[in-house]
Amino acid sequence: MNFRLRIWRQRDAKSPGKLVEYDVRDISPHTSFLEMLDILNETLVGRAEEPVAFDSDCREGICGTCSLTVNGEAHGPDHPGAICELYMRKFRDGATITIEPFRVGAFPIVKDLVIDRSSLDRIVQAGGFITARAGSAPEANSIPVPKHDADLAMEAAACIGCGACAAACPNGSAMLFTAAKVSHLAFLPQGHPERERRVLNMVRVMDAQGFGNCANTYECEAVCPAQISASFIAKLNREYARAQFRQRLGE
Ligand code: SF4
Ligand code: FES
Repeated sequence: MNFRLRIWRQRDAKSPGKLVEYDVRDISPHTSFLEMLDILNETLVGRAEEPVAFDSDCREGICGTCSLTVNGEAHGPDHPGAICELYMRKFRDGATITIEPFRVGAFPIVKDLVIDRSSLDRIVQAGGFITARAGSAPEANSIPVPKHDADLAMEAAACIGCGACAAACPNGSAMLFTAAKVSHLAFLPQGHPERERRVLNMVRVMDAQGFGNCANTYECEAVCPAQISASFIAKLNREYARAQFRQRLGE
């Protein structure tokens, strides 16, 4: 397969960027999207040109490191899945493909397609610790957790922290990410002692990082590779309202 790529090139955070066109030829349909970029980079290095900078690590949809907007869609056209799980057979032979970084004010561009998502780390950091014994593994049934709550906690814990939710949101909101992080502990008894403090701090830092608010467009849910449900945002709002109420009561 042959493709024309339009790739965002930007020397560093301060330089202006632009879309640059490259042709890639004889690509197997079974090549992954990131392998196709590797092939392009080998060609560029062979021509003594600067390779395209982009992020990846596990390349199997679990680490959340990859982050590309392809033809205007965060993680490309094959949902649910991270960009590292996308294959070139998903595109028409001869297609023109536009590749950009996630466009979110809170994710400044470092170089080309690489962005700085440490704002998400700061939200998690604000959540603090949980009060749980770190010694030997406890007896499995020593803290009973209702099956329904355990399932919801596991669903929320599937968030890989990629930031696609914020990239897809017209408001650049990270509420799906924050909701997943708040919820997976709020559903479990082990997460209850710091429950109020955690949600208040995480939402405060989320706002301070410059993320927008949720406007119920559901774009986040549509692109999320971990299929985190937007209903967790309602859980976040309930947790936040509850924490504010208890704080005012002085509890
Ligand atoms: S909620 Fe989904 S899209 Fe957002 S950071 Fe987590 S895995 Fe990525
Ligand atoms: S490289 Fe790990 S999720 Fe894509």
